[in-house]
Formats: sequence, C-alpha cells, structure tokens
Amino acid sequence: MELHFPSHFLWGSTTAAYQVEGNNYNSDFWAEEHSEGSPYKDKSGDTIDHYRLYREDIALMASLGLNTYRFSIEWSRIEPEPGQYSRSAIEHYRDVLETCYKHGITPVVAMHHFSSPKWLMRLGGWASPEVPDRFAKYCEVVFREIGHLIPYVLTMNEINLPVMLREIFSKIGFIPPVGIDREAWTAPKWRESAAKLCGTTIENYFTFHMISDESSIKILKETHQKAREAIKKIQPNTKVGFSMALSDIQSIPGGEELAEQKWHSYFKQYLPMLEGDDFFGLQNYTREVYGPEGQVRPAEEAELTQMGYEFYPEALGNVIRKVAKDIDIPIMITEHGIATDEDERRVEFIGKALEGVQACLADGIDVRGYLHWTTFDNYEWQSGYSLKFGLIEVDRTTQERKVKESARCLGSIAQMNTLVSK
Ligand code: BGC
Repeated sequence: MELHFPSHFLWGSTTAAYQVEGNNYNSDFWAEEHSEGSPYKDKSGDTIDHYRLYREDIALMASLGLNTYRFSIEWSRIEPEPGQYSRSAIEHYRDVLETCYKHGITPVVAMHHFSSPKWLMRLGGWASPEVPDRFAKYCEVVFREIGHLIPYVLTMNEINLPVMLREIFSKIGFIPPVGIDREAWTAPKWRESAAKLCGTTIENYFTFHMISDESSIKILKETHQKAREAIKKIQPNTKVGFSMALSDIQSIPGGEELAEQKWHSYFKQYLPMLEGDDFFGLQNYTREVYGPEGQVRPAEEAELTQMGYEFYPEALGNVIRKVAKDIDIPIMITEHGIATDEDERRVEFIGKALEGVQACLADGIDVRGYLHWTTFDNYEWQSGYSLKFGLIEVDRTTQERKVKESARCLGSIAQMNTLVSK
C-alpha cells in the first residue's frame, strides 16, 4: 500500500553542535568530560569534524533525497566570553545556512542543544535570573546577522528532559528512556571538578540538565519567552518553537493515575510556554509503561535497543495524538531514532513509525515534518561513541562517511513523498 504525505512535508535528519562539530572547549560539557572522575565514557575531541566537513555533509544529505536539516548553533562558539561575540563563528553558521540553500535544503536551527558556555556557570548557570536576558541577547546577535536565513528555530532542545531525569533517577533501577547512566548522574565528585574547570565552585554549578525545580523552571520559561520576542522583533516571519522529549506514557491497570501524573510533569506543566509559539517540536524514542508500583520493566521477550529502550515504533503516532489533544499549533517531529548496530532494525523502526505519522495526518492532525535522529553516528554524551544512532556511519580515524541502508530508505521516502507499507 502506498501512503502519501502532504506536499512540502519536511523530510530530514538532525544533529546537535556538541555531538558533531568537535572541540567545543568553551562549553560546560567539555568541562564535564574533562573533569576528574568524569562519567563520560569518551572524550568528544574532534567528534566527526562536522565543523570542517559541513559542506560535504550537507551535499551528502541532499544527494540522499532529504530536504531538511536540523542542526544547532553552539552558544559557546558565538559568545565564548560574556558579551564577546565571535565574528568568525557567526560567519561559519552563515555558510552552513547558505550551503543548505545551495542544496535545496530547508534549515531548522536550535539555538541551544544541552550545552552552554562555561562562563554561564560562573554566574550561577541556569539558576541565575540573568539567563533570560543573556540568552535573548545571544539570539538577538545571531538573528541580526543571519536570522533572514533561518525559517524555523527552536530556542531550546528538550526543555523537559531535566524533570524526567530527576524523577526517573530518584526511583527506578533499570535504564530509563533518557540515556544517562544512573550512577554517573548521581555521583557528586566530578561535578566539583567540572565547576572548577568552568572557573567556579559547585554552589554556582547549574547546567541545563538541572532545570527541574520551580525556580529554575520559571527561569527557563522566561528564557524562551524573551528569546522568542528577540527573534520575532528582528525576523517576524521565522517560525519559533521549542522541543520536548516525550515517551509514549502508557498504563496497565492500577497505573493510570501515575501515568497521568507523569504526563503532567513531563508535558502538561509546560503548556503555558507554548503561548505565542508557531510550532511544537516533538521528540520520541520509545514508550514508558506504569503500573501500581511505578514504572514497569519491558517484558522479558521485548526487543531492547542499545540504549536499553524498548523497540516500540508505534510510540511516535501515539504521542502525536496525545499532544494534539492539548495544542493547536502545527507539530514538527524534530527527533525520532534508535541506537542499534543492526541497520535493518532502523529501517523497520522508521517505516513502522511513519505509518503512525501518516495515520495521524489522515485524521487531520497537522504534522509538518519528520526529522530523524540522527544524521551520523556521533558523540552520544555520556555513552561516548559506542552507540550507533546514525543514518550514516563515520570512520573517525579518516572521517570518512559511509551511507547506511536506512539513509537510502529515508531518502527515497522523502523523494517520493510516499511510504510503501507492507
Ligand atoms: C537528544 C540527543 C541525544 C538523543 C539520543 C535526545 O534526547 O536531543 O542529543 O543524542 O536523544 O539519546
């Protein structure tokens, strides 16, 4: 059966600056990696050298048939010291954007994808009331220069991830769907060292991943609002939003209330932030099931991905439907993916998930695009280079790119704007 998608549907893939560019040494994540006792399995180093190879990389995406590329701008490159902006970094991102257009690719830009400048920690990090104005100023500087080249922007990526981390780590013993190791997250010592590498002390050290209490969530909300205002003032036509990590929250008998609570704390509590936004960035990887005792482990026979997540491509369509009940702006799938060495499982995962997306479209839900996580095998934060989320393999000794079957599949679906389902 042929499943058709709307014309102008955005088909593409996503990267994050820190995970692909290499040598983002002014970032707080660099400090975390290099801290004493760091829980990060690898040093990011050159990563996949996308900062140098972006022209070839974007050409490759276009050659596959993809029409959209989501990437992030690294705040610590644009503003390596407070109030000091790098002309060279701005020109780099200008060229990334122009290269996209040269290849017929629509850029979707995130102004923040987890990593922040080290200097922000000296001000108290994301707990500091200075953040909203500082972040808005950074957005203003970027948009004044290259905003006319940015049709879609996410102010921040996965604003709800910190709350998920806090709730999950306080309760369960198996790997939850956020990808950060429990022991690593809770060990206190390395944070002291990371704070020192940022030029401050543990009292001030408050990274994006820690925004989970009332006061910092308030700062986060204000940050989004001020950033959106700054962007819109310069580029009223740019579509502005943010993205959220949303598992398909399910329940078995007795777990309904808990599932509802989770959905509230992971999603609903952030709904007021959407007021004034142009689109919603939805990101999904798996499902979470709740019972009377809390989160339920996947069944013995369930297929698990390299992340320990349950292989469950039906989650994407389910989450779109749930989200659509509460919002009335278009949805863009800004991430969806699977860590696996078996690329045929990725092919299956994408195909099944897209059937769900198409069914949502058929029911009248306004989904504007599907952006797969991720373009290349890259630096998966604390898990380092061992996990393979990419559509394209990278030999990091030569930086040679090798296209996987899943990339060809997604590219051909994109080109035909049609999914042929079995
Ligand atoms: C993040 C990515 C990450 C991916 C896979 C998402 O939560 O935005 O940076 O690599 O999940 O874990």
